[in-house]
Amino acid sequence: MTKRVRKAVLPVAGLGTRVLPGAKTTPKNLLNVVDRPILSYVVEEARAAGIEHFVFITSRGQGAIEDYFDANPEIEGALEAKGRTAILEDVRRDLGKPGQMSFVRQMAPLGLGHAVWCARDIIGDEPFAVILPDMLMMAKTPALAQCVAAYEKVGGNIIAVEPAPEGETHKYGIVALDGQDGRLNRMVGMVEKPPLGTEPSNLFISGRYILQPDIFPLLENQGKGAGGEIQLTDSMVELMKAQDFHALEYEGTTYDCGDKIGLLRANVAFALARPDLADAARAAITALL
Ligand code: G1P
Repeated sequence: MTKRVRKAVLPVAGLGTRVLPGAKTTPKNLLNVVDRPILSYVVEEARAAGIEHFVFITSRGQGAIEDYFDANPEIEGALEAKGRTAILEDVRRDLGKPGQMSFVRQMAPLGLGHAVWCARDIIGDEPFAVILPDMLMMAKTPALAQCVAAYEKVGGNIIAVEPAPEGETHKYGIVALDGQDGRLNRMVGMVEKPPLGTEPSNLFISGRYILQPDIFPLLENQGKGAGGEIQLTDSMVELMKAQDFHALEYEGTTYDCGDKIGLLRANVAFALARPDLADAARAAITALL
């Protein structure tokens, strides 16, 4: 029996360098895709996978994230008074029950591995999900739910992967598989940002993980890796010596919202996928071409 995955860590610290100046006063993961912040989609995806508790790893200047997931009596009261119930419902949709969200300051930008390590006390001794919110995923079965289903099948640790665009493997964590049969395969290695030509496959780590808590002591002692940062990938390589890792080539499309064009593509794709907006969005886009 595998232990249920109830908690997710969302590392949201970071300057959002590629989406400045938009991300100067708005945390990058609160930038809009159509009419909701990126985090709204990601939290919805996680809830669909059974996640009950969210641990946001933040940095200075990101208090707006906490405010977004809190009640706002002024806005809600005004909408109520005006009878704008549809908008009111929409505004309240993302709020959790009190106590279902934690916010932890990373204090220094030391890398993704360090960010995840900051969640150790809140996660405790149970398997957990890591979601990189920059990577917005559109999928029939939400991406994290696909990971959880894989986890329930094989246990251990699960990493969502997808093929990297030609010549771009050096930008990501890349996995090595023990043969390929279908979408869920046992991993034998992984490497963070391998120099071009040295990548063990073209499958990159695309931002959804199910990890065992045994990763935390490894992260605690993890030295700096690629880019001089404490890398989650390096500690996962260590954990792989003791535990199984499977790569799941998830079904769906990833939009990198930490990038200007990726964010634009996400806006277009999510608008076209919205029954209430699709026609108007298509007309507006077509008129520009
Ligand atoms: C991080 C991970 C990397 C992964 C990538 C996906 O890198 O370290 O393994 O492939 O996210 O976006 P970063 O983008 O923070 O450099």
